[in-house]
Amino acid sequence: MAFKIILKNSGLFFLGCLIATALEIIFFSPISPDLIELPLASSSVSVSPPNNQLQRVTKLGEGFLKGPEDVAVDENGILYTATRDGWIRKMHRNGSWENWKKQQSQGLLGITTAKGGGLIVCDSEKGLLKFTEDGVTVLASHFHGSEIRFADDVIEASDGSIYFTVASTKFSFHNWYFDLLEAKPHGQLLKYDPSMEETSIVLDGLYFANGVALSKDEDYLVVCETFRFRCLKYWLKGESKGETEIFIENLPAAPDNINLAPDGSFWIALIQVIYEGTEFVHTSKVLKQIIANFPKLVNYINGATKRAAVINVGANGNILKRLDDPNGTVMSFVTSALEFDDHLYLGFLIAITLQIIFFSPISPDLLQLPVVSSVPVSPPNNQLQRVTKLGQGLLIGPEDVAVDENGILYTATRDGWIRRLHRNGSWENWKNLQSQGLLGITTAKGGGLFVCDSDKGLLKLTEDGITILASHFDGSEIRFADDVIESSDGSIYFSVASTKFKRHNWYLDLLEAKPHGQLLKYDPPTDQTSIVLDGLYFANGVALSKDEDFLVVCETSRFRCLKYWLKGETKGETEIFIDNLPAGPDNINLAPDGSFWIALVQIFYEGREFVHTSKALKHVIANFPELVKYVIGPTKSAAVINVGANGNILKRFGDPNGTVMSFVTSALEFQDHLYLGSLNTDFVGKLPLK
Ligand SMILES: *[C@@H]1O[C@H](CO)[C@@H](O)[C@H](O)[C@H]1NC(C)=O
Ligand SMILES: *[C@@H]1O[C@H](CO)[C@@H](O)[C@H](O)[C@H]1NC(C)=O
Ligand SMILES: *[C@@H]1O[C@H](CO)[C@@H](O)[C@H](O)[C@H]1NC(C)=O
Ligand SMILES: *[C@@H]1O[C@H](CO)[C@@H](O)[C@H](O)[C@H]1NC(C)=O
Repeated sequence: MAFKIILKNSGLFFLGCLIATALEIIFFSPISPDLIELPLASSSVSVSPPNNQLQRVTKLGEGFLKGPEDVAVDENGILYTATRDGWIRKMHRNGSWENWKKQQSQGLLGITTAKGGGLIVCDSEKGLLKFTEDGVTVLASHFHGSEIRFADDVIEASDGSIYFTVASTKFSFHNWYFDLLEAKPHGQLLKYDPSMEETSIVLDGLYFANGVALSKDEDYLVVCETFRFRCLKYWLKGESKGETEIFIENLPAAPDNINLAPDGSFWIALIQVIYEGTEFVHTSKVLKQIIANFPKLVNYINGATKRAAVINVGANGNILKRLDDPNGTVMSFVTSALEFDDHLYLGFLIAITLQIIFFSPISPDLLQLPVVSSVPVSPPNNQLQRVTKLGQGLLIGPEDVAVDENGILYTATRDGWIRRLHRNGSWENWKNLQSQGLLGITTAKGGGLFVCDSDKGLLKLTEDGITILASHFDGSEIRFADDVIESSDGSIYFSVASTKFKRHNWYLDLLEAKPHGQLLKYDPPTDQTSIVLDGLYFANGVALSKDEDFLVVCETSRFRCLKYWLKGETKGETEIFIDNLPAGPDNINLAPDGSFWIALVQIFYEGREFVHTSKALKHVIANFPELVKYVIGPTKSAAVINVGANGNILKRFGDPNGTVMSFVTSALEFQDHLYLGSLNTDFVGKLPLK
């Protein structure tokens, strides 16, 4: 079976990781997240349907401006923009561009023209700056003893006061996504008074304070809270002076820069900070912490989709117009919109392209997780803690066990050895197969052993040597042979967990959740392999019934086992043997009384099942194998069940917190004892049944 790979590589390391993960994520996480309040789907604002008006833009300075985030126009009609390379460039009325000033910063954000000439610029590294022909002045670099790290947008009032936002007092520009993940209000609106050269606070506790604009009469300010999908109105004059109210909320995307239009309305650029289909991330604190530990992941979750939208909002907060480029054909990630001379000037940051779908190794389906215990399962017990440990220290991850007619017990371990235990209690290193992928084994009727090698196919071992029985089927390599059983007529039935993924990538099969498994039959006289069942969900353990009238094959990722009739009226038909198991069935073995022992493995961590309900997240995880261990993997527990030939669970043994055994992958009954293989142990467990 498949799970050995992790343990092979990293046994204890992996286990350590499992434990460490839980701790590390919470204590070393760069964020302490709150849940984000996602906007209600257009409840309070009436939004017209998307259009493609933004595709009509003329491109100014194309190829020359690298991410012009904001634009400003001075009284002479000169257009300014600050680009990612630290340049402030201006476009003269005759259409020619000039490289005006250069700042050693990659974080130039909001800009506004100064009444007396020059430009006021938010530098998210240095604070609030003023540029004139003569040079640059730092107006405000500190506030309240702390550096201003993330100045975002700025506006100048006619009395000379300069209002500017600080997106976050906790995170810097480079870590903006932490602020989004943390979803706490670290933003501020500050006021710089040039006559006093003093900075004071206007509003604190804002959710990513972004665009700021003054109303036409300068009786109020509007400040946009990007991650709250709303903008606030702060009164500067009149009866409600000093008070704050909501200007517009429940926006269809996050507001970025805001600019006053000549008619007194406002233009707000809307950015898609959260990818569609990944909103669920913001409903789980654990998941947020996981993502915060993998900054690369953030691109797949927080970011601008390839689209653009700007809205025009009246002074009363009603949306008047909406302009879109819904699939970013011409513009995407528009961060500001400025109206001047009957034209709208749009700034945009180059979108982080959503690559994940195209480069993902998987094409996932959603997994049907089992309905909670529709099979009567007795409560967990700790019977498996009573085992005697056989071959302790010698056996590394003995995944499967088999016993021959002489009572000799065989097991295949991660180091490629087939070892056997003689009746006198001594272990023998019998054969080494030079493989790390030995999975299911079964004793051969005429002596010897059949072995599923997930690298080489179906093998037969005798005292004389090794024979490869089947390495190819239908012109393709058999990559992931998993378990095997021999019938009394000599036919050998074996499962192939996945025809698409190899053992090393077993988790991709689980993520993809498509049926790539098979049950094959090898016929020794003709040396031919044929197909019995196709389209199985991670085909794992396979067993024959006592009368050999049916086969049972377990589908690990579907939490069920199927019955395939070999004889009788229903010969050739398949039905469900047992489904809705509490965990993924691994190996299955016939018991002497005609019942079956099935080992159950916990392949999905509790509480992380949500992963399997999102295709987007599956793509994300498939791109980051390191992440897989946070989502898929055996928990520190063990469970085996005894199921009657009719599919009813008769007994259940467990070690619920893995005190003695965990990750038990097979259970074989022999002479009133249960022999237990596991990928987590260095022994075979022996449990008395009487
Ligand atoms: C455009 O105007 C600017 C500023 O007046 C001037 O420096 C520049 O040479 C002009 N360019 C052209 C192509 O006329
Ligand atoms: C963009 O979307 C429009 C519908 O809004 C569609 O007709 C058009 O084909 C799309 N273009 C591209 C390049 O996807
Ligand atoms: C146990 O039996 C095996 C096989 O018969 C034999 O090779 C081995 O020497 C025996 N070991 C002991 C300690 O008796
Ligand atoms: C194991 O789980 C049981 C409950 O099933 C609990 O009482 C016990 O304290 C746990 N032991 C450890 C070591 O966590």
